[in-house]
Amino acid sequence: MVAKVGVIVYSTWGHQNTLSDAVFKGVQKSGAEAIMYQFEETLPQEVLTKMYAAPKPAYPVITPDLLAELDGFIFCFPTRYGRAPAQVSTFFDRTGGLWASGKLIGKFGGIATSAGGQHGGHETTVLTTLPFFAHHGVIFVPIGYAKSEISNEESIVGGSPWGASVVAGGKGTLPVLDSDKVVAEYQGENFGTIVNTFLKGKNAA
Ligand SMILES: Cc1cc2nc3c(=O)[nH]c(=O)nc-3n(C[C@H](O)[C@H](O)[C@H](O)COP(=O)(O)O)c2cc1C
Repeated sequence: MVAKVGVIVYSTWGHQNTLSDAVFKGVQKSGAEAIMYQFEETLPQEVLTKMYAAPKPAYPVITPDLLAELDGFIFCFPTRYGRAPAQVSTFFDRTGGLWASGKLIGKFGGIATSAGGQHGGHETTVLTTLPFFAHHGVIFVPIGYAKSEISNEESIVGGSPWGASVVAGGKGTLPVLDSDKVVAEYQGENFGTIVNTFLKGKNAA
């Protein structure tokens, strides 16, 4: 029995769609079953059009029930003022039933993100999302400095010990770098390996 790992994305301008592809690839490499979902959009299409938002991917929308079926999940979402977008908070506002029944206790969670600026919230976005995990009993999986790309001092790159990330630029015009994808793929593979190993041990006990 392999672990079921959801990669759950929210993106306005597409950086997170690209980053989550790399996370997904990494989870697949680990041998875990990888499933893509997206957070439900809460903005009207009229507003998204005015924001020049990218088209949405075709993934199913995550629901509390679908989340509870997973052994672990990696969220991929951009920063909003150094924290999670409202779309993610809105989703968690619907998880009171899961909290009351302890359905997420002992599951694993990871986070990948992006910010316009180099210092715009790569780490705080993950840190300020942890209360959702703690209150649900979800075990947070960081990545440390496992990949040398995270410690690059030669150029501006994404990635931190908290998880993969992207510097999107003030106007969102900077690309997702190959090094960001390397970190994201590692995050997915490491996460999938940990959840798989945990499940094997649990089932053997
Ligand atoms: C309302 C709003 C708030 C934002 N707040 C920040 C911020 O605090 N720091 C920052 O660097 N970027 C900020 N950004 C930029 C986004 O994080 C950036 O465009 C995003 O990471 C790009 O990812 P995407 O292409 O997947 O949407 C903000 C964007 C919006 C729309």
